[in-house]
Amino acid sequence: MTQSTAKYITLITGNCLDILPTIQEKSISLIIADPPYNVSKAGGRNGFRGKKFVDMTWDTVEDYSEFSDTWMEACRRVLKDNGTMYIWAYYRSIPLLPIHKWYPLNLIVWKKTNAFPTTMQNSIWSPSCEFAYFLRKNPGKGHTFHIGKEDFARDVFEQPVVNYPYHPTRKPISIISEMIRRSTNLGDTVLDPFLGSGTTAEASLSLGRKCIGIDINPEYIELANRNLESVPTRLEI
Ligand SMILES: C[S@@+](CC[C@H](N)C(=O)[O-])C[C@H]1O[C@@H](n2cnc3c(N)ncnc32)[C@H](O)[C@@H]1O
Repeated sequence: MTQSTAKYITLITGNCLDILPTIQEKSISLIIADPPYNVSKAGGRNGFRGKKFVDMTWDTVEDYSEFSDTWMEACRRVLKDNGTMYIWAYYRSIPLLPIHKWYPLNLIVWKKTNAFPTTMQNSIWSPSCEFAYFLRKNPGKGHTFHIGKEDFARDVFEQPVVNYPYHPTRKPISIISEMIRRSTNLGDTVLDPFLGSGTTAEASLSLGRKCIGIDINPEYIELANRNLESVPTRLEI
């Protein structure tokens, strides 16, 4: 475990299937999960003219349905009863996520304004979107969602893909920040079981939220820690 140099941010190297059971039950207000999409195995990002131009070996999971069911159940245990979860997904992974065990609130669309056209596959539409399910743990309890009278929270974000050499799938921090700002209160704890380059931790820190981030790759945990160094802390709880 790494206690980040940033106060209230805990970064943990390990398989989330092992780490999640060690987190206190019902202690988390919001989960932002960006799991492997399992597209590398299907020839996605690695398939350009047979060349591997990005190492995405972490993106392969043998039994995706079973894996998804296990981590989502482990997340359910640590989430407060009125807690919510965003799960990033792709058209290939959506049918394999056991969403029916949750209460769906939205399917958010990230429209990539600079999506790379898939010229090597002229038999399909060029994918230009990713999606994030917005889910509630229970139907009955009121969940946190900040919205003003004239403040529409539209379910479509238009943002460019992040040009970032250190992690192949870094998400736009503006989208992650909006998710955290609307779905938590100051001082709440946000959990990211697939932290990657640390966007969730960075956004939590700058918005005055606590964060627990897990990644199986120690290099990504180091990267996330480095990224936190330049984030101004807002929290003095
Ligand atoms: C899609 S990326 C997350 C990117 C992140 N949202 C960002 O903005 O940088 C998924 C991450 O999950 C990690 N990962 C894959 N399997 C894991 C597991 N079983 N437990 C924890 N982390 C895992 C990978 O190392 C990878 O960094």
